[in-house]
Amino acid sequence: MAGEGVARYRHAFMARLRKAARIWGNPKAREIGERVLFAPDDHLFTIDPPAMFGRRAPIEIEIGAGKGEFIIERAAEFPDRDFIAVELSSTITRVLAVRCGRAGLDNLRVVRMDARTLVNLMLADASVSAFHIYYPDPWPKERHVKHRLFTPTLVASLFRTVEPGATAYVATDVRDYSAEIFPMMLAAGFIRAVEAAPGAERTGFARKYVAAGKPVYSAAFRKPRESKSN
Ligand SMILES: C[S@@+](CC[C@H](N)C(=O)[O-])C[C@H]1O[C@@H](n2cnc3c(N)ncnc32)[C@H](O)[C@@H]1O
Repeated sequence: MAGEGVARYRHAFMARLRKAARIWGNPKAREIGERVLFAPDDHLFTIDPPAMFGRRAPIEIEIGAGKGEFIIERAAEFPDRDFIAVELSSTITRVLAVRCGRAGLDNLRVVRMDARTLVNLMLADASVSAFHIYYPDPWPKERHVKHRLFTPTLVASLFRTVEPGATAYVATDVRDYSAEIFPMMLAAGFIRAVEAAPGAERTGFARKYVAAGKPVYSAAFRKPRESKSN
Protein backbone atom coordinates (compact mmCIF):
# COMPACT_ATOMS: atom_id res chain seq x y z
CA MET A 1 0.00 0.00 0.00
CA ALA A 2 2.78 2.40 1.01
CA GLY A 3 4.67 1.29 -2.11
CA GLU A 4 1.64 2.17 -4.24
CA GLY A 5 1.47 5.63 -2.62
CA VAL A 6 5.14 6.27 -3.39
CA ALA A 7 4.69 5.07 -6.97
CA ARG A 8 1.67 7.39 -7.42
CA TYR A 9 3.61 10.32 -5.95
CA ARG A 10 6.61 9.60 -8.21
CA HIS A 11 4.32 9.32 -11.24
CA ALA A 12 2.63 12.67 -10.45
CA PHE A 13 6.00 14.31 -9.76
CA MET A 14 7.46 13.08 -13.07
CA ALA A 15 4.32 14.25 -14.90
CA ARG A 16 4.80 17.73 -13.39
CA LEU A 17 8.47 17.75 -14.41
CA ARG A 18 7.57 16.73 -17.95
CA LYS A 19 4.88 19.41 -18.13
CA ALA A 20 7.28 22.11 -16.88
CA ALA A 21 9.96 20.91 -19.34
CA ARG A 22 7.42 21.01 -22.17
CA ILE A 23 6.36 24.54 -21.28
CA TRP A 24 9.95 25.76 -20.91
CA GLY A 25 10.98 23.94 -24.08
CA ASN A 26 8.52 26.05 -26.08
CA PRO A 27 10.66 29.04 -27.19
CA LYS A 28 7.69 31.46 -27.25
CA ALA A 29 6.55 30.50 -23.72
CA ARG A 30 10.13 30.63 -22.45
CA GLU A 31 10.68 34.11 -23.92
CA ILE A 32 7.48 35.29 -22.18
CA GLY A 33 8.57 33.74 -18.86
CA GLU A 34 12.04 35.23 -19.04
CA ARG A 35 10.56 38.73 -19.37
CA VAL A 36 9.34 38.59 -15.74
CA LEU A 37 11.85 36.19 -14.17
CA PHE A 38 14.73 37.27 -11.93
CA ALA A 39 17.14 34.66 -10.57
CA PRO A 40 19.88 35.26 -8.04
CA ASP A 41 23.34 35.27 -9.56
CA ASP A 42 26.75 36.43 -8.43
CA HIS A 43 25.86 40.05 -9.01
CA LEU A 44 22.56 40.17 -7.16
CA PHE A 45 22.85 40.95 -3.48
CA THR A 46 19.79 43.08 -2.91
CA ILE A 47 16.32 43.24 -4.33
CA ASP A 48 15.56 46.81 -5.28
CA PRO A 49 11.88 47.00 -6.29
CA PRO A 50 12.03 50.56 -7.73
CA ALA A 51 14.87 49.43 -10.05
CA MET A 52 12.95 46.27 -10.96
CA PHE A 53 9.69 48.04 -11.80
CA GLY A 54 11.01 51.44 -12.86
CA ARG A 55 8.77 53.24 -10.39
CA ARG A 56 8.18 53.69 -6.66
CA ALA A 57 4.95 51.97 -5.54
CA PRO A 58 3.78 49.89 -2.58
CA ILE A 59 5.32 46.44 -2.85
CA GLU A 60 3.62 43.14 -2.01
CA ILE A 61 5.51 39.84 -1.89
CA GLU A 62 4.10 36.33 -2.05
CA ILE A 63 6.41 33.70 -0.58
CA GLY A 64 6.06 30.21 -2.07
CA ALA A 65 3.76 31.46 -4.82
CA GLY A 66 3.32 28.06 -6.47
CA LYS A 67 1.72 28.46 -9.87
CA GLY A 68 0.65 32.01 -9.12
CA GLU A 69 -3.14 31.63 -9.05
CA PHE A 70 -3.45 34.26 -6.30
CA ILE A 71 -0.73 36.77 -7.13
CA ILE A 72 -1.71 37.07 -10.80
CA GLU A 73 -5.29 37.95 -9.79
CA ARG A 74 -4.07 40.29 -7.06
CA ALA A 75 -1.63 42.13 -9.34
CA ALA A 76 -4.39 42.61 -11.91
CA GLU A 77 -6.69 43.92 -9.16
CA PHE A 78 -4.16 46.51 -7.87
CA PRO A 79 -2.27 48.07 -10.79
CA ASP A 80 -0.95 50.85 -8.52
CA ARG A 81 1.01 48.34 -6.45
CA ASP A 82 3.98 46.19 -7.46
CA PHE A 83 4.15 42.45 -6.81
CA ILE A 84 6.96 39.93 -6.46
CA ALA A 85 6.22 36.19 -6.54
CA VAL A 86 9.01 34.24 -4.84
CA GLU A 87 9.33 30.52 -5.47
CA LEU A 88 12.07 28.08 -4.50
CA SER A 89 11.44 25.20 -6.89
CA SER A 90 12.94 25.83 -10.31
CA THR A 91 10.38 23.54 -11.96
CA ILE A 92 7.44 25.37 -10.42
CA THR A 93 9.10 28.75 -11.06
CA ARG A 94 9.22 28.10 -14.78
CA VAL A 95 5.50 27.39 -14.90
CA LEU A 96 4.88 30.40 -12.64
CA ALA A 97 7.02 32.71 -14.81
CA VAL A 98 5.26 31.68 -18.01
CA ARG A 99 1.83 32.17 -16.40
CA CYS A 100 2.84 35.55 -14.96
CA GLY A 101 4.40 36.57 -18.29
CA ARG A 102 1.26 35.57 -20.17
CA ALA A 103 -0.81 37.71 -17.80
CA GLY A 104 1.08 40.65 -19.32
CA LEU A 105 1.14 42.69 -16.12
CA ASP A 106 3.80 45.40 -15.77
CA ASN A 107 3.49 45.26 -11.98
CA LEU A 108 4.40 41.59 -11.47
CA ARG A 109 7.83 39.91 -11.38
CA VAL A 110 8.99 36.44 -10.41
CA VAL A 111 12.08 35.67 -8.35
CA ARG A 112 13.43 32.14 -8.11
CA MET A 113 15.19 31.74 -4.81
CA ASP A 114 14.86 30.67 -1.21
CA ALA A 115 12.59 33.26 0.36
CA ARG A 116 14.57 32.97 3.59
CA THR A 117 17.61 34.48 1.86
CA LEU A 118 15.46 37.17 0.29
CA VAL A 119 13.73 38.23 3.49
CA ASN A 120 16.65 37.76 5.87
CA LEU A 121 19.32 39.41 3.75
CA MET A 122 18.15 41.14 0.60
CA LEU A 123 15.28 43.43 1.49
CA ALA A 124 15.63 46.89 3.00
CA ASP A 125 14.08 47.76 6.37
CA ALA A 126 10.44 48.89 6.24
CA SER A 127 10.25 48.45 2.46
CA VAL A 128 7.35 46.00 2.00
CA SER A 129 3.66 46.84 2.27
CA ALA A 130 2.38 43.24 2.48
CA PHE A 131 3.66 39.69 2.66
CA HIS A 132 1.40 36.84 1.56
CA ILE A 133 2.39 33.38 2.80
CA TYR A 134 -0.17 30.74 1.96
CA TYR A 135 0.09 27.02 2.68
CA PRO A 136 3.82 26.81 3.40
CA ASP A 137 5.01 23.20 3.34
CA PRO A 138 4.29 21.83 6.84
CA TRP A 139 7.11 19.25 6.99
CA PRO A 140 5.16 17.21 9.57
CA LYS A 141 7.90 14.68 10.41
CA GLU A 142 10.07 15.60 13.38
CA ARG A 143 13.30 15.05 11.43
CA HIS A 144 12.12 17.45 8.69
CA VAL A 145 11.10 20.32 10.96
CA LYS A 146 14.34 22.13 10.08
CA HIS A 147 12.99 22.66 6.54
CA ARG A 148 10.01 24.69 7.71
CA LEU A 149 9.81 28.24 6.45
CA PHE A 150 8.60 29.78 9.69
CA THR A 151 11.26 30.25 12.36
CA PRO A 152 11.74 33.10 14.85
CA THR A 153 14.55 34.40 12.60
CA LEU A 154 12.34 34.52 9.49
CA VAL A 155 9.51 36.13 11.44
CA ALA A 156 11.88 38.77 12.88
CA SER A 157 12.94 39.52 9.29
CA LEU A 158 9.31 39.81 8.16
CA PHE A 159 8.83 42.33 10.96
CA ARG A 160 11.99 44.25 10.04
CA THR A 161 11.12 44.50 6.36
CA VAL A 162 7.44 45.51 6.53
CA GLU A 163 6.55 49.16 6.78
CA PRO A 164 4.91 50.29 10.04
CA GLY A 165 1.17 49.70 9.63
CA ALA A 166 1.75 47.00 6.96
CA THR A 167 0.54 43.42 7.12
CA ALA A 168 1.78 39.86 6.77
CA TYR A 169 -0.99 37.45 5.74
CA VAL A 170 -0.67 33.76 6.55
CA ALA A 171 -2.77 30.66 5.91
CA THR A 172 -2.19 26.97 6.47
CA ASP A 173 -4.35 23.87 6.41
CA VAL A 174 -2.35 22.35 9.30
CA ARG A 175 -3.75 23.36 12.66
CA ASP A 176 -0.62 22.43 14.62
CA TYR A 177 1.53 24.52 12.29
CA SER A 178 -0.80 27.52 12.72
CA ALA A 179 -0.49 27.05 16.49
CA GLU A 180 3.26 27.55 16.10
CA ILE A 181 3.23 30.30 13.50
CA PHE A 182 0.64 32.63 15.00
CA PRO A 183 2.27 32.99 18.47
CA MET A 184 5.65 33.40 16.73
CA MET A 185 4.28 36.38 14.78
CA LEU A 186 2.91 37.96 17.97
CA ALA A 187 6.20 37.37 19.81
CA ALA A 188 8.04 39.24 17.03
CA GLY A 189 5.89 42.34 17.62
CA PHE A 190 3.05 41.92 15.12
CA ILE A 191 -0.51 42.43 16.29
CA ARG A 192 -3.38 40.29 15.03
CA ALA A 193 -5.62 42.29 12.70
CA VAL A 194 -9.31 41.59 12.15
CA GLU A 195 -9.13 41.65 8.36
CA ALA A 196 -9.13 38.41 6.37
CA ALA A 197 -6.07 37.10 4.53
CA PRO A 198 -6.95 37.86 0.89
CA GLY A 199 -5.32 34.72 -0.54
CA ALA A 200 -6.51 32.25 2.08
CA GLU A 201 -9.19 30.92 -0.27
CA ARG A 202 -7.71 31.94 -3.63
CA THR A 203 -4.38 30.14 -4.09
CA GLY A 204 -4.12 26.86 -5.98
CA PHE A 205 -3.85 24.85 -2.76
CA ALA A 206 -6.59 26.88 -1.08
CA ARG A 207 -9.03 26.14 -3.88
CA LYS A 208 -8.44 22.41 -3.48
CA TYR A 209 -8.84 22.54 0.31
CA VAL A 210 -11.97 24.67 0.17
CA ALA A 211 -13.51 22.42 -2.50
CA ALA A 212 -12.77 19.39 -0.30
CA GLY A 213 -14.39 21.11 2.72
CA LYS A 214 -11.12 21.10 4.69
CA PRO A 215 -10.66 23.74 7.41
CA VAL A 216 -8.04 26.41 6.82
CA TYR A 217 -6.33 28.51 9.49
CA SER A 218 -5.56 32.03 8.36
CA ALA A 219 -4.72 35.37 9.93
CA ALA A 220 -3.50 38.88 9.22
CA PHE A 221 -0.65 40.30 11.32
CA ARG A 222 -0.02 44.03 11.35
CA LYS A 223 3.14 45.83 12.37
CA PRO A 224 2.10 48.61 14.76
CA ARG A 225 2.34 52.06 13.16
CA GLU A 226 4.55 53.39 15.89
CA SER A 227 7.11 50.57 15.72
CA LYS A 228 10.70 50.79 14.56
CA SER A 229 11.98 48.31 11.96
CA ASN A 230 13.73 45.96 14.35
C1 LIG B 1 2.31 23.80 -0.46
S1 LIG B 1 2.88 24.80 -1.73
C2 LIG B 1 1.73 26.19 -1.73
C3 LIG B 1 1.79 26.99 -2.98
C4 LIG B 1 0.86 28.21 -3.00
N1 LIG B 1 1.18 29.14 -1.94
C5 LIG B 1 -0.57 27.78 -2.90
O1 LIG B 1 -1.17 27.99 -1.83
O2 LIG B 1 -1.11 27.25 -3.89
C6 LIG B 1 4.32 25.56 -0.99
C7 LIG B 1 5.19 26.28 -2.02
O3 LIG B 1 6.24 26.95 -1.33
C8 LIG B 1 7.45 26.77 -2.06
N2 LIG B 1 8.53 26.93 -1.08
C9 LIG B 1 8.89 26.08 -0.11
N3 LIG B 1 9.92 26.57 0.61
C10 LIG B 1 10.22 27.79 0.05
C11 LIG B 1 11.19 28.78 0.32
N4 LIG B 1 12.07 28.62 1.32
N5 LIG B 1 11.22 29.88 -0.46
C12 LIG B 1 10.33 30.04 -1.48
N6 LIG B 1 9.38 29.13 -1.78
C13 LIG B 1 9.32 28.02 -1.03
C14 LIG B 1 7.31 25.36 -2.62
O4 LIG B 1 8.19 25.13 -3.70
C15 LIG B 1 5.85 25.34 -3.01
O5 LIG B 1 5.65 25.84 -4.31
